[in-house]
Amino acid sequence: MEILDGKLVSNAVKERLKQQTADRIKSGKKIPHLAAILIGNNGASETYVASKVKSCSEIGYKSTLIRLPEDISETSLLNKLNELNDDFDIDGILVQLPLPKHISEQKVIETIYPTKDVDGFHPESVGRMVQGLPTFYPATPYGILLLLEHYKIETKGKHVVVIGRSNIVGRPISIMLSKNEYPGNSTVTVCHSHTRNLNEICLQADIIIAALGKPEFLTSDMVKPGAVVVDVGITRVEDSSKKSGFSIKGDVDFQNVASKCSYITPVPGGVGPMTIAALMMNTFKACAAKDPS
Ligand code: GUN
Repeated sequence: MEILDGKLVSNAVKERLKQQTADRIKSGKKIPHLAAILIGNNGASETYVASKVKSCSEIGYKSTLIRLPEDISETSLLNKLNELNDDFDIDGILVQLPLPKHISEQKVIETIYPTKDVDGFHPESVGRMVQGLPTFYPATPYGILLLLEHYKIETKGKHVVVIGRSNIVGRPISIMLSKNEYPGNSTVTVCHSHTRNLNEICLQADIIIAALGKPEFLTSDMVKPGAVVVDVGITRVEDSSKKSGFSIKGDVDFQNVASKCSYITPVPGGVGPMTIAALMMNTFKACAAKDPS
């Protein structure tokens, strides 16, 4: 069994971007600039956004963190997004999800210009992804592809079972892995809360992507020997033995599943860091797209 080390691969991706950014600066080109909006005081969101901003500074990008109160009106948020849309210096915009209940996630997603949609959530970005056109891939599935690519994991003709059908991970990764190029050409089954015989389906998988948000859901009796297991889960579970009062659990019962796998991602240190690396790739691309030809 080999660990798919997201921390290591993410650092390699970020190191490459740091070099490319230094090259841009040397040749007088624009410095990539990410704007991140954080609403309210959700602990997990605070951590994710802090990591994104830190990665920007490590690579040499500019970043603008905009903190807004939990009770901000939808109109004020949309106005802020339009301001960022019209600001030439901003290349990428992300609004950390989830949002407070009184704000429409769909309206927020659709307000961000597709050219600045580094999260890849806008319907235009998703539509282009489905049709195999150049676009921004959503960061988590893109990060998973980069990880599979780094470890040269064969995907052609493989049966991939995705557990979860969210717009952020399950649905897009299912489309990306069925595309007609590496990493892809897989036969993909998307499973969800209404799937029957989930255990049997998982046992047929060469690659399992667990993205349902239920701690330690995937147990060893669901995994074929030699399978590749990608764990997208990051749930905070109360843990009085930790200073923070919680520990992070993945969707996979790592302790018992790992010995059955050929490759497996750890939690933390697997998909999480790759999500940030992928966002940094998208931000670079959004900036480079503005270069005069
Ligand atoms: N919340 C959970 N995952 C994500 C993500 O990839 N992007 C944003 N903006 N919010 C998230």
